[in-house]
Amino acid sequence: MEPSFFPPSQERNLEGWPDWSILVVDDEQGMLNFLVKTLAPRCHFVMSASSAEDGAQWLRGHHVDLVILDISLPGKSGVVWLKELREQGFTGEVILITAFADLDTAIEALRAGASDFILKPFRVPQILNAVKHCYERSRLRRENFVLRRAVTSTPGRGALVGQSPALQQLRQSIARVAPVNSTVLLQGESGTGKELVARELHALSSRASGPFVPVNCAAVSPELIESELFGHAKGAFTGATRARDGLFHYAQGGTLFLDEIAELPQPIQATLLRAIEDLNIRPVGSEQLVPLNLRIVAATNRQLSDEVAAGRFRKDLYFRLQVVDLTLPPLREHKDDIAELVAHFIAQLAPSLGVEPLAISEPEMDFLRQYDWPGNVRELRNLIERSLILGTLNVSALYPGVARPADGGAAPSQPTDLHTLEKMHILNVLDSVQGDKTRAAQLLGVSRRTLERRVAEWNSL
Ligand SMILES: Nc1ncnc2c1ncn2[C@@H]1O[C@H](COP(=O)(O)OP(=O)(O)OP(=O)(O)O)[C@@H](O)[C@H]1O
Ligand SMILES: [Mg+2]
Repeated sequence: MEPSFFPPSQERNLEGWPDWSILVVDDEQGMLNFLVKTLAPRCHFVMSASSAEDGAQWLRGHHVDLVILDISLPGKSGVVWLKELREQGFTGEVILITAFADLDTAIEALRAGASDFILKPFRVPQILNAVKHCYERSRLRRENFVLRRAVTSTPGRGALVGQSPALQQLRQSIARVAPVNSTVLLQGESGTGKELVARELHALSSRASGPFVPVNCAAVSPELIESELFGHAKGAFTGATRARDGLFHYAQGGTLFLDEIAELPQPIQATLLRAIEDLNIRPVGSEQLVPLNLRIVAATNRQLSDEVAAGRFRKDLYFRLQVVDLTLPPLREHKDDIAELVAHFIAQLAPSLGVEPLAISEPEMDFLRQYDWPGNVRELRNLIERSLILGTLNVSALYPGVARPADGGAAPSQPTDLHTLEKMHILNVLDSVQGDKTRAAQLLGVSRRTLERRVAEWNSL
């Protein structure tokens, strides 16, 4: 793989995205050449790869802001690879390209986490526009953390569902710890609600009106994490064409949530410890110390003491972080809460999916209580979401080969697709049927009324 760098300076005044690194993956050399030629003068760096495997190899060692990905690749398909990338925590933008105008593929692509979807053949303005949209979206996401918090969290009241002794105790600890300014370490298996608790701690703290800034330590590349966290001065390293604020800066006055803290590279562990002890940071390449006014909440699904014992995590940082240590119970230890959680997720998800709520029978609920929930509350939430889409409790996913207890295993109804379609794709469908809403609703598998309601919602935004 030969990387393609920014070309000579006379082309630099094109409109573009000078701080973006882009990876293009396509098995057609002609398409790669076209994309590299179009994008390279407009961004920091373009790398091309002709298979998912080559692309994955590049991503392992490098920071990438945008992946432009062909769907039909030899070996692993673009969609399959994208799903894997998202599971591995890749949070960058992804534009999928394909020669086949197939609605199912488009839906699957969006479900897999694509930001945009364009059809071949396309012209230069189309791809530039798509990249521009991704760039704008990512910039807004980065800068407007306050808005993000307002959208995603329900401060203070009822965020955490469950009346079991374990949950009552957790709630009491949160109420006690939230107003105090000390650093909090959240430990618990995956899906137990660590991020939810972090948001709750923020919402109940004196900094509730400030930003809540989540950082996934596992998803930032080790070379860039210092500048991501602390920011950098102009010219601090190759490619730092201008000064940039770090995530600590965006969290000032609020809470910085360091998720997956066990994955923090060792050299940064030392820097973070100093920042917490001295309450100031120094952006990379800068002389200036910036005083900190924020609260740090860290989380991990590993046993951090084991990481310390294994020499992978600094002991002094561990002690510094676990001034207050909250451990979240796995769902199998508070199964009393399952019924309430199920009701909560149905009430929360049905309206946003545009489907009818689901009635769960007692035998079905017993099924749910017998299961061990290795993926904890997230697994339960996902099950309810799938079941709402299918219109029937989808227990067969938990117990392969077992019929539904309620009616002996009726075939599930067709999935409803509307919830996964982003506006653009609904518009694409409408386009493909010349604006015929009845036909578009049929293709999308929803009622015409639901479709109209969704369109009206956008129009009122
Ligand atoms: N007690 C609860 N009440 C309501 N929702 C919950 C509860 N616990 C977890 N959830 C929901 O379950 C999902 C998973 O929770 P969250 O993302 O906070 O888990 P996590 O511990 O951060 O997992 P991971 O370690 O995999 O990142 C979220 O949708 C969250 O809102
Ligand atoms: Mg989490």
